[in-house]
Amino acid sequence: MKLTILGGGGFRVPLVYGALLGDHADGRVTRVVLHDVDAGRLRAIARVLAERAAGVPDAPEVTATTDLDEALGGADFVFSAIRVGGLEGRADDERIALAEGVLGQETVGAGGIAFGLRTVPVAVDIARRVARLAPDAWVINFTNPAGLVTEAMSRHLGDRVIGICDSPVGLGRRVARVLGARPAEAWVDYVGLNHLGWVRGLRIAGRDELPRLLADPVLLGSFEEGRLFGADWLRSLGAIPNEYLHYYYFNREAVHAYREAGRTRGAFLRDQQAGFYAGVADPAVPALELWDRTRAEREATYMAENREAAGAGEREAEDLSGGYENVALALMRAIARDERATLILNVRNRGTLAALDGDAVIEIPCLVDAHGAHPVAVDPLPGHATGLVCAVKAVEREVLDAARSGSRAAAVKAFALHPLVDSVNVARRLVDGYTAVHPGLAYLR
Ligand code: G6P
Ligand code: MN
Repeated sequence: MKLTILGGGGFRVPLVYGALLGDHADGRVTRVVLHDVDAGRLRAIARVLAERAAGVPDAPEVTATTDLDEALGGADFVFSAIRVGGLEGRADDERIALAEGVLGQETVGAGGIAFGLRTVPVAVDIARRVARLAPDAWVINFTNPAGLVTEAMSRHLGDRVIGICDSPVGLGRRVARVLGARPAEAWVDYVGLNHLGWVRGLRIAGRDELPRLLADPVLLGSFEEGRLFGADWLRSLGAIPNEYLHYYYFNREAVHAYREAGRTRGAFLRDQQAGFYAGVADPAVPALELWDRTRAEREATYMAENREAAGAGEREAEDLSGGYENVALALMRAIARDERATLILNVRNRGTLAALDGDAVIEIPCLVDAHGAHPVAVDPLPGHATGLVCAVKAVEREVLDAARSGSRAAAVKAFALHPLVDSVNVARRLVDGYTAVHPGLAYLR
């Protein structure tokens, strides 16, 4: 099996490779091709991978290239984890929104729209090339904003592109653990869009245990989302939201906390990773060790301002690594070996949520086998959740429209219609601000 990793010079690639190193079964990935537009970053990550592979006899062979078509040819799986505009772009996304007094965050609200506008044209180009050069490949999309980008790619690849995220798994795992269950034995009833979903039930041996959690203040106070959202609000919702919904339900506080923080998450990571890539350029520096130290610091500071402001406390150590690499590996195994698995994935709706059309990409439990990911039937969302999901999907559609047509008016509409952007004037200024700094938005006219 050949796996091509786009964004192969990315900081989290060693996590994916680490997951592959633990897979010794037949049908495993034996060849990894890293692709990146930046040769220096490729060299840095290739060094980390080589050190990680030391002593593993069946370690997948790794090659690296800056030629996209060469990387895609003959791929069985394409894992896309690119960041158009880099972390500098993310820092700009966050800063410009916060300066307007609205949420500046990687994937949610104005920042996420700017990121999407920049990323969709590149993702569409990749999808077209995959369709031409590796028409039988499965594309696993981790490129954020993952739901939107998966939908953009699905217009060219149909159901051969599947979006992944670690946040639903992490949430399901925490809820299961609080209820005293092993995560593997729990059925998590989770649905929504990427970074916009709710756990509405958690069945253990067929019985929904979520009501027991919602009724117990001690249990609710004992895990992260319980503290982040508060027992009363969780009871009112009758569900446990994805942590990203904190940006909606406590928007004012989140914006305040992020403005107070001074440096955004993107700016922190930009500086931190610049240190890492500069460090590994020196052959005397042990690459894996530096990578691991940088990774630990990154994980320990994840969403820190937001969490602290909400009194949610620190993330438990065993939960620090979100585990997206394990989702990716489980997905590849299920497809390559026809090993049935249930995973929460981003796929086309196909009638599952009646409020959305069939092509809308949603995040939902899927049965996965050699034929791909099949969404399972779920209960409808309550009105308030359907409202949010439909509003945000409408924004995503405007982003796709702007990316296709190059229309600045469509871009303004995308920002203006977002529930976390409170004025059309703000939307206009955001488009002005973002197009002034992002070369990747020069196509908007
Ligand atoms: C989670 C989300 C990802 C997101 C990441 C941000 O893992 O699922 O979609 O990119 O958090 O973390 P960071 O450390 O980059 O702020
Ligand atoms: Mn995610």
